[in-house]
Amino acid sequence: MLQDTQIETLLLASTRFRGLVHTPSCDSTQLLAAAGPENDDRVFWADHQTSGRGRRDRVWHDEPATDLLLTLRVTVRLPNPAALPAALPVAVLEACELAAPECRLRIKWPNDLLVDGRKLCGVLIDRDSARPDTYRIGIGLNVNRTRFPAELEAIATSLALASGRLCDRSELLLAVARGVDRLLRELCTGSIATPLALFRERLGLIGRMVTVDGAPAARLDDIDFEHLTLAGGRRVPLAAVQSIRLERR
Ligand code: BTN
Repeated sequence: MLQDTQIETLLLASTRFRGLVHTPSCDSTQLLAAAGPENDDRVFWADHQTSGRGRRDRVWHDEPATDLLLTLRVTVRLPNPAALPAALPVAVLEACELAAPECRLRIKWPNDLLVDGRKLCGVLIDRDSARPDTYRIGIGLNVNRTRFPAELEAIATSLALASGRLCDRSELLLAVARGVDRLLRELCTGSIATPLALFRERLGLIGRMVTVDGAPAARLDDIDFEHLTLAGGRRVPLAAVQSIRLERR
């Protein structure tokens, strides 16, 4: 387990992040990260959140000092901000597989990570219109917990459950921060071939029949970080897509 000062030194040496704010408990790291200047890229880490928030204002549940609850605050001028939500899970996926190489993760649209069909991680991006280049990237990752509340038991998992051993949260934090830092550079320079290939592979939907936002099922011919293309050439911007479901018939 790395000490916070060691994490901070490593973040400074190898990423855009200028510091780490680590707290035993807060309402939400998204709120913690909301205060602060622009161009002050920082990692906010809580061992527990009293009001953890998921997408669509759902509650994000954690097991204190067991999971990873992070907000990475970054200010970056992205050539295409719409690509970020689809691309981010790739960086987190790679960090998880570094920590638990025996696990094979899948991406579930829009930005969940699954293992063995159960949710391992969710990503949430907040951005204020007054500061459009500052993103608060919230990452909730189930790391070492082995029990879930009854309503999550059948649909959630953790790295420990999937790999059969405990993972070092501090090492994982560092791997996530490094992965996100690298991905942002790739998005800025347009060198996205590697993350895009992994995104396509782990989404696992190309060539399959899908339902996009409840429309009649159609074959997904292609997808990148910005668009999907359905059979017949219909191109849909991902920013407009709420759900992509695999048609199992
Ligand atoms: C989702 O799948 O709905 C996204 C979940 C995001 C949860 C993380 S935990 C750290 C950060 N703080 C929050 O309140 N939410 C995000």
